[in-house]
Amino acid sequence: MNAEGSADLEQWVFVEEPEDTDEPRVHAAWLPPEAFRALGARRVLVHGHGLLVDTVLDEVSRACARYGGRVWHSPSWDVDVDLVLALRGAGELPNPAVEAARAAGEAALAEFGDGGTLGDEGFVLARAGEVTAVVADAPAGLLYGLFHVVRLCAAAYDPARPPERHRPALRRRMLNHWDNVAVHPVMGQVERGYAGGSIFWHQGRPRGDLARIREYGRLLAASGVNAISVNNVNVARTEALLLTDRLGDVAEIADVLRPYGIRVHLSITFAAPVVLGGLSTADPMDEAVRAWWAAATRNVYERIPDFGGYVVKADSEGQPGPFAYGRDHADGANVLAEALAPHGGVVHWRAFVYNHHQDWRDRSTDRARAAYDHFVPLDGRFRTNVIVQVKFGPVDFQTREPVSPVLAAMPATRLAVELQVTQEYTGQQRHVCHLGPWWSELLRFEPWGPGGRTIADVATGEAEAGGGLVAVANTGSDLFWTGHPLAQANLYTFGRLAWDPRLDPSAILDEWISLTFPPSATADPELVGRTLHEIMDDSWRTYERYTAPLGVGFMVHPGDHYGPGIDGYEYTRWGTYHFADRDGVGVDRSRASGTGFAAQYPPYWAQVYESPESCPDELLLFFHHVPYQHVLHSGSTVIQHIYDTHFAGVEEVAVMRRRWQTLNGMIDPAVYERVAERLDEQMRSATEWRDQVNTYFFRKSGVPDERGRVIY
Ligand code: GCU
Repeated sequence: MNAEGSADLEQWVFVEEPEDTDEPRVHAAWLPPEAFRALGARRVLVHGHGLLVDTVLDEVSRACARYGGRVWHSPSWDVDVDLVLALRGAGELPNPAVEAARAAGEAALAEFGDGGTLGDEGFVLARAGEVTAVVADAPAGLLYGLFHVVRLCAAAYDPARPPERHRPALRRRMLNHWDNVAVHPVMGQVERGYAGGSIFWHQGRPRGDLARIREYGRLLAASGVNAISVNNVNVARTEALLLTDRLGDVAEIADVLRPYGIRVHLSITFAAPVVLGGLSTADPMDEAVRAWWAAATRNVYERIPDFGGYVVKADSEGQPGPFAYGRDHADGANVLAEALAPHGGVVHWRAFVYNHHQDWRDRSTDRARAAYDHFVPLDGRFRTNVIVQVKFGPVDFQTREPVSPVLAAMPATRLAVELQVTQEYTGQQRHVCHLGPWWSELLRFEPWGPGGRTIADVATGEAEAGGGLVAVANTGSDLFWTGHPLAQANLYTFGRLAWDPRLDPSAILDEWISLTFPPSATADPELVGRTLHEIMDDSWRTYERYTAPLGVGFMVHPGDHYGPGIDGYEYTRWGTYHFADRDGVGVDRSRASGTGFAAQYPPYWAQVYESPESCPDELLLFFHHVPYQHVLHSGSTVIQHIYDTHFAGVEEVAVMRRRWQTLNGMIDPAVYERVAERLDEQMRSATEWRDQVNTYFFRKSGVPDERGRVIY
């Protein structure tokens, strides 16, 4: 029977359009109602049961209520539909067309081989007759399938569309929030946060805006993220209590995010047995300490049965750790892993460990070496539910760094790659700096040499048991979620690359653009799409051009890390130096004459990086100290390169700003204004960077600009 004639109204799913959809409390990011138009105008059948199937149903129902479509949930009568979203085990439906589409999905799956498995999160999309089918083994797969259909818009219903199977390459796709519960006197509510306050916490308490957290979960699920940690890796007294007295606050967040397939993790302090448990020691070999962790962890799982696990920053930048007891990082991580193992949880143990009290006169200590020196000797000693979480580069989320050699040196350990979506060193969400191309380059890097495994393969791991991809979040209580509206694209891109690191970052950018600025909502979609793409696609390289040159890094204002401070860290304890003098610049990290860091790589790259002749230009000053007149592969001298790129970078920002102005009146005025303001600041800041860097190197080297431009 046709749905129109159905008497069985009980089985209709009817959801009233939410009141706030026309006037969103916050910007809709990549899920504006308009992005659901193609879906919402159709007849949709959802088949199956489970919490996440209910989420699918809710999403479809809201879209259909808005755009005039219809939705049925596992009807017991025949209906004509355009789209079916079905769980494989959910039983037959009394509809031949739907069953044919479902069978097409099954057949496609069999053709893809490897036993036709989709896993917990995969799905297949296939067409039969007039029907598109999304078929999944598990509810999460159906949810990801739904968001795929949303991304495809009308293309999802193209009769010529061949079957597709999608499964995440990485099982773990996690965001770390560096959010403080209590406002930190220096770092504020969110450490390195540039988007207002925290979504979760406000001045010592939960913020209490559960609707906002739910909306956040929805955005994350639509990008592919499936885990978050909800507090800063630097754990102070109030935050430590989340593990015990304030566990209820964490459970509340977990409850809200669960329907979107997102598991919650906690950053804990290694000293918890002392500061929370009243023990005299946190020695991981102490029986009472082990028992304390086991009991505390059991308690967590009683409240949050799908709790993800712990994130730990230990013996790093003042955080407590196993060193105080003469133990190493494997001992420390394993005591937590042992407590989590019976419940299926994992420990994300960070490898960001270095001496932050270095003597700047001491040239033998090299911060870049530290993670390798601490962790590689421990390979094979970590329990199987320990994930060693490694910053992508050896120093600290710089605009350009080589890939961390640790990622190629711990074959017997599960490794996660840590990125920074929050733009601590890349313009703090005041500058347009689209990081997709940079992350893609990192994930595709082959640390064993051309043709070998990639960094993405390392994060995937053997039998998909790798540590996955993790990033520090860039979101906050800001109306646009990320301060700079265009910084939303970084978050979206992170999720998409974590789902599939082989995706083309330029295509992901276009995907984000057309979801966030739906073509049907703009007078000239071609102009809007092209202009945004032109502004954003190369913006990371533009940012690199006007900041620290040739991979040398830092040169930022100390403390807040915003804007130029060429010598800001030069004579400090932090281990981030450029060693510029009147003759040259850069850090000698060669084996022959420097710190030996280059030798931490497998032979192919160790050799490439060892010599200034073979080292790629963009990393030259990371690996070598060279004279200003050193000639790059590009043919330019180092000094002339510094001048040229800094002038070019600022000109590119001017072009970005002019391009943005052509969008005035074409897009949401609030977005337009916010970005316009930020581009003014980017222009000011880029100019300051240019002039400070150029002047600094002109005065050091005495070499004039070949082209005679103004250098102060
Ligand atoms: C950077 C950042 C700190 C942060 C640290 C970390 O150094 O500036 O604020 O705590 O990274 O990754 O732990």
